[in-house]
Amino acid sequence: MKALRPAPDPYPIREKLAVARKELSSTLIERDEEVDLVLTALLANEHVLLVGPPGCGKSLLLDSVLSWTGGAKFAILLTKFSVPEELVGPVSLAGLKEDKYVRVTAGKLPEADFAFIDECFKGSSAILNVMLKILNERTFDAGDGIVRKVPLKLLGVTQ
Ligand SMILES: Nc1ncnc2c1ncn2[C@@H]1O[C@H](COP(=O)(O)OP(=O)(O)OP(=O)(O)O)[C@@H](O)[C@H]1O
Ligand SMILES: [Mg+2]
Repeated sequence: MKALRPAPDPYPIREKLAVARKELSSTLIERDEEVDLVLTALLANEHVLLVGPPGCGKSLLLDSVLSWTGGAKFAILLTKFSVPEELVGPVSLAGLKEDKYVRVTAGKLPEADFAFIDECFKGSSAILNVMLKILNERTFDAGDGIVRKVPLKLLGVTQ
């Protein structure tokens, strides 16, 4: 007698996405289109901006997607008092002792695979400019003159 084994799924990623889509859609009421939008952005390696009235689930959706992904993550809620250091890391004190202006980016946006910036337009123009380069060109210069590619796959931003 042979044990009946289910055939392995030939499309494991498709299956995984279908499960995520179903779970997200059941958590977020009437947000199927937005769920699809974020998952499509994830697949297409693009970023996504969610705009809508307060309390419509923008943050909940991006929080949920980020909790589902693996990899290095970065999330921040911006206020008008936020400074670029909170996004890209502080200036290295050891570097300053050697007359170098280099940022320590560990755990910050330049090293994240997946990121969520909540209420991004509350950030100063200094923050928006830092974000723009990372979003558009997908590069970051920590201050040592070397322009490195960032590993960012999906940056979710809310208004
Ligand atoms: N479509 C939805 N389905 C289920 N719960 C929802 C939905 N929309 C909002 N909520 C509930 O409302 C709470 C607030 O939503 P959330 O903080 O995500 O809104 P927001 O769009 O980010 O608002 P704001 O612009 O004020 O930041 C959520 O934590 C959730 O409990
Ligand atoms: Mg929000």
